[in-house]
Amino acid sequence: MENKDNIRVVVAGEEHKKYVTEINDTIQRASEERGTGIARRTDEYILTKMEEGKAVIAIDGDKFAGFCYIESWSHNKFVANSGLIVAPQYRGVGLAKRIKQKAFELSRKKFPDAKIFGLTTGLAVMKINSELGYKPVTFSELTDDEAFWKGCQSCVNYDILMRTKRTKCLCTAMLFDPQWEQKKNEKTQQEGKLISFKKWLKNKHASGYIEPFSAKLKRVMNIVTPNDFLKHKQENALGSM
Ligand SMILES: CC(C)(COP(=O)(O)OP(=O)(O)OC[C@H]1O[C@@H](n2cnc3c(N)ncnc32)[C@H](O)[C@@H]1OP(=O)(O)O)[C@@H](O)C(=O)NCCC(=O)NCCS
Repeated sequence: MENKDNIRVVVAGEEHKKYVTEINDTIQRASEERGTGIARRTDEYILTKMEEGKAVIAIDGDKFAGFCYIESWSHNKFVANSGLIVAPQYRGVGLAKRIKQKAFELSRKKFPDAKIFGLTTGLAVMKINSELGYKPVTFSELTDDEAFWKGCQSCVNYDILMRTKRTKCLCTAMLFDPQWEQKKNEKTQQEGKLISFKKWLKNKHASGYIEPFSAKLKRVMNIVTPNDFLKHKQENALGSM
């Protein structure tokens, strides 16, 4: 295992084009070992991702350590972080976590309203996604963009996906919806306001400015004597004649 201290995780640019073949070869090898999952892209595709600023790379000095890219679907309503790969000698030191974190931040910056999703069979990615706020969902919650699902054609389990009419497969779908965050913020704000109001009310009671409801009730009940009640009834009876 390599020393992780010198590894930089950055948005990939022109200067990283020299790593494209190595990235693709590493993906290919991992895919063969796992027997499922990660689709090899063309070198041109990876290059374009770098040029568009839609890729994250991990570099140890000048050695390639890891990679991931982002893709948008359904007219930017969905974003997927794909092609995650960590070179074997850098695994197990939290590098995938750093790469996914960076790709997540990049996705939120470039597509703030998009739902971010991923498909995976791997426990490591499930753990990382959960930490980032993704939740497991059914495939019905994902993009219906044909181009995305075409990417599954190179997977050995593609026949399962087809047999189930794209409703399920061996991968778990995970999704992050920015609206969840918005709703959570709104709820926190409302709770904050309620707490402030309760504090304000308590202070007012303590200073004697507002009479607590129970005290007020007691005071009013004490004032109404049976005589007061009879008098009130007589007055009302006269009024209705
Ligand atoms: C999967 C992969 C990206 C993980 O990279 P990594 O840098 O070793 O992962 P990290 O060190 O950041 O680990 C993240 C978490 O996953 C766990 N983890 C890592 N590898 C794991 C494995 N093979 N099985 C189960 N858990 C694993 C870690 O313990 C850590 O969990 P923690 O937060 O509870 O400690 C790497 O093994 C790889 O490139 N594999 C081949 C390609 C691949 O499978 N890509 C994913 C396609 S969906």
